[in-house]
Amino acid sequence: MTTNLLIKNIKQLVGIESTVRNAPLKGTALSRLDVLENAYLLVEDGLFADFGNMENCPERAGQEVDADGRSVFPCWCDSHTHLVFAKSREEEWVDRIKGLGYEEIAHRGGGILNSARRLQETPEEVLFEQAMERLAEVRKFGTGLIEIKSGYGLTLESELKMLRVIRRLKEAIDLGIKATFLGAHSVPMEYRNGNRQGYIDLIINEMLPQISGEGLADYIDVFCEKVAFSVAESEQIIEAGARHGLKAKIHVNQFNCMGGIAAAVRHGAVSVDHLELVNEADVEALKEGETIATLLPSAAFFLNDPVPPARKLIDANLAVALATDFNPGTSPSARMPFVLSLACIQMKMLPEEAINAATLNGASALECSQEYGSIAKGKRANFFITKPMPSVAFLPYSFGSDLIDTVFINGKR
Ligand code: NIG
Ligand code: FE
Repeated sequence: MTTNLLIKNIKQLVGIESTVRNAPLKGTALSRLDVLENAYLLVEDGLFADFGNMENCPERAGQEVDADGRSVFPCWCDSHTHLVFAKSREEEWVDRIKGLGYEEIAHRGGGILNSARRLQETPEEVLFEQAMERLAEVRKFGTGLIEIKSGYGLTLESELKMLRVIRRLKEAIDLGIKATFLGAHSVPMEYRNGNRQGYIDLIINEMLPQISGEGLADYIDVFCEKVAFSVAESEQIIEAGARHGLKAKIHVNQFNCMGGIAAAVRHGAVSVDHLELVNEADVEALKEGETIATLLPSAAFFLNDPVPPARKLIDANLAVALATDFNPGTSPSARMPFVLSLACIQMKMLPEEAINAATLNGASALECSQEYGSIAKGKRANFFITKPMPSVAFLPYSFGSDLIDTVFINGKR
């Protein structure tokens, strides 16, 4: 039996697609956001079935919801998070207020290694319960598809533990979830004095075979940065991932331009993420491939770092996505609407560009744009009804306000 849901009297139906696109939106196309005024939306069996003007609204469907002049958006696609972690790190944040740098804290064994120590001693069940609570909040913020990374394990056992938690989350919840293996997040202390390759070998020869054998990851990631892995080390790991069928999504250009973007593009990475700093060679490298530039404005905001140069990338006709980077060290928030506000206020993205970058291009950065990221026939009915809003721009404009009223995942409230 089919189950129908009809949403009536929608002021603005935002992010509709008449034909589902195969590629992310680039350059000027990023500002094209299709909006239907005074609309209805029909859902069948958890998928978008139809939409149109209220004049043509079907008579009787199953369940009916009167949007009563409020708007409907497709759910956000948050393509970069570290949502599984054991403990918050507000004490390091206070140290930074007093003047310590993020990289300084990392060199002392704080930061990622601090999170790894806590995670290693935390049972899988506890991590799972904490992550489920965070996902409930993620859903309230309007996110319908999310990527979650490992990378706070840093031992075979604990990386497996994190990825098994993510697999359990996939099974337990209706949100779309993609898992990324980030064993190369930081070099553990015991490998730092002359045996960095020992840790890389552990990733390549022990972690990867087991992870791919159990089908625990959809992607591989490396933190390519002076405090973490060099470009040559990153390439070794990306290549090893590829041998196990894992495409790359790379942390790069957060604090330094090291040529990591060109390396990632050469290896066909799905995305390069962060890009607080971008030089001309990086832009040229991105033009050579199909790698999406995923910007994480709330991490730059939280660290008081340079703002990712979104305009430079969009004006170079590149594909830009937006994500939260939700993690305890650099972005302790999974609130996508705030990311959109920062993108507009600090990075000069237009509201339409920010919405597309946070929906369709986020879905593309997870190779899921056939199923997620817009309101199109046949895609999953992941959408939210807003509170009363005068216009589309009002959503990123009202930073800090909670304008998301009701979230539907696979057509269910
Ligand atoms: O994306 N930069 C690397 N990884 C995370 C931060 C992780 C942490 O500090 O715990 C990020 O910002
Ligand atoms: Fe990150």
